[in-house]
Formats: sequence, C-alpha cells, structure tokens
Amino acid sequence: MKDFIARLPKAELHLHIEGTLEPELMFEIASRNRVHLPYQSPEQVRKAYEFSDLQSFLDIYYQGTRVLLQDRDFYDLAWAYLKKAHEQNVRHAEVFFDPQAHTERGIPIRAIIDGLDQAFQDGERQFGISSKLILSFLRHLSGDHAMKTFQDALPFRDRFAGVGLDSSERDHPPEKFTSVFARAREEGLFVVAHAGEEGPPDYVWQALDALRASRIDHGVRCIEDPALVDRLRAERVPLTVCPLSNVKLRVFDAIENHNLRQLLSAGLCVTINSDDPAYFGGYINENFLAVHEAFDLTKDELCMLARNSFEAAFLPDSEKTRIFAELDELASS
Ligand code: ADE
Ligand code: ZN
Repeated sequence: MKDFIARLPKAELHLHIEGTLEPELMFEIASRNRVHLPYQSPEQVRKAYEFSDLQSFLDIYYQGTRVLLQDRDFYDLAWAYLKKAHEQNVRHAEVFFDPQAHTERGIPIRAIIDGLDQAFQDGERQFGISSKLILSFLRHLSGDHAMKTFQDALPFRDRFAGVGLDSSERDHPPEKFTSVFARAREEGLFVVAHAGEEGPPDYVWQALDALRASRIDHGVRCIEDPALVDRLRAERVPLTVCPLSNVKLRVFDAIENHNLRQLLSAGLCVTINSDDPAYFGGYINENFLAVHEAFDLTKDELCMLARNSFEAAFLPDSEKTRIFAELDELASS
C-alpha cells in the first residue's frame, strides 16, 4: 500500500513553510548568516523535538525561524519543500507562511514574500506543482497587529491568495480577528483558520461565523459537538487533518486513538496533511501511511481522502475534474 499511496496524486492544504525547516538546512543557513544555534548538530536538534502540547512545539518552532534572514533563505526553505513534495507526488500545495514571526525580528515583509514566491513559481515550472500562499496571522498577537501586518502585505496582494490563523490556540479565540478577516475578504482573498486543534468546538463555530472561514485547519475537536458536526457535513466544510502532528502534540495519545474514523463515519470532508513535517516525523505520504496502518484504510478510502484534498483546494473546477478522472482510474487499477 506504500506504493499505492506514493502514486496517489495529492493536494497538501495544511503545511507551514517554516515547519519544513529540516535541521540540516537550519544549520546550513545559520552558518552562512552567522546565527548562533543552541545545538551542536542536526542530530541534537532532532533529539530536542519532544513536545508536550502545541505551545511547547511553538517555542522551538519560532526559535528555528531565527535563522531565516534574507530572500535567499526563504527561497531555499521553500525549494527544499518543493523537491520533497515532487518526490511524494504532491500536485498542488496551499502553504501557510507566518510573516509576523519574521517582521517581529526586523525582516522586511518583501524579503519573505519575494523568496517564497520565487521558489513556488520555480516549483510550478520545474515540477508542475501549482501552489498558493496563505498569509497566516499569529493569534497570540493582537487583532491590531494582524491588521497592521495585513496592510504592510497589501503591496504584494497578487502574491498570496488567502489568509489563515495559527499559533497558540488556547485563550485566543478567532473572534479577536474578525476585522482583519473581513478586510481580507473584501480584497477577494480566501479565508481559512486553525480551530478545534487544542481549542474547543466553540472556536470552530467562531471561525465559521465570525471569520467566515471556508475550510477549518485541524478541527478534530468538532466531534465533541454534534450540532457542529451536522453543520460541517451539511455545508461540506473541509477539515485539514494532520495525524502525525496530532500525536506529536498530544492531541491524541497514539495514532490508534485518533478520531479519523469517527470524522469519516460522520460524513465529513476530511483531508490528510503534514502541518510541520520537519518537526513531526513525516511528510504527506508518511501521514497517509500512518492512518492506513492504524485504521486499515482501503484503497477506496485512500482515494477518497486524496479526492477530498482536491475538492477542498482553491483550484478551478476544470483542474479538479482532470484530477478526479486520474483518481478514478487509479482506484480501478
Ligand atoms: N503553527 C505551526 N504549526 C501549528 C499548529 N499545528 N497549530 C497552530 N499553529 C501552528
Ligand atoms: Zn497548522
């Protein structure tokens, strides 16, 4: 089945580009930028990746971003991801970036967007991977800070396609960001938000009603609220589920105890994604394989998960139809 998963065309819809920084590249960039790392080697970095919850991960994740200073660093980061995505037959990627994690350190927003955008354009040319960037706001910062960041990003409006909301979920409800998301919608950007990862189902309601998110990142805690599950099913709101992340960050204590089966049985549009693969031990194929092994997913179910990822993507219908036909063929092979 590993082979079958590798051959499936997939869309990656929940990936933080900063979360793809592998320790080797972290060392390489730190060395050329003369940034001190509190580790002696990439192996030592990997050993430090033991997390007790989302915050314990974010502290290390933001520390890793400190090596990224120039356009070239953002380019190299994204290019390394694209090579991996190509190897894993990812055809389309909608990728988060966290400008505030960098502008707070004095990095100009132009350098971040120039570097990332150039890499994704090259990825489309060289690998045929289509992509969209999602400017994601850090929810532990204020609504005003998000609005200021959005205004600073507006000169580059044509280089990102959506906005998102990430970082520490507990005590940072989506409603804090109602104004900036309304502003983003006026600009014609698509809207997604992390909710129901560690936070309560109420945050998923807020993401839908206050932010008008058309996709929920994680959302696994929706299962605690039957009315919410009904709404997500009725409106076919996709969930971008990240199984290895959920285990690493102890949302579930083991992959076998993940609620993926319940989400699927509830008839939800579930997709499988990798979140921060350099930190969580696997990219998209490893996430597919982990849930296949834990839940004995059939070929048809794996195809449905891949199909959902294209249904949930912000792609033209003509492109979706083409991929659906390819998936149908693979399913019957
Ligand atoms: N930023 C990077 N990964 C994240 C996650 N899993 N949840 C919230 N914010 C994040
Ligand atoms: Zn995430």
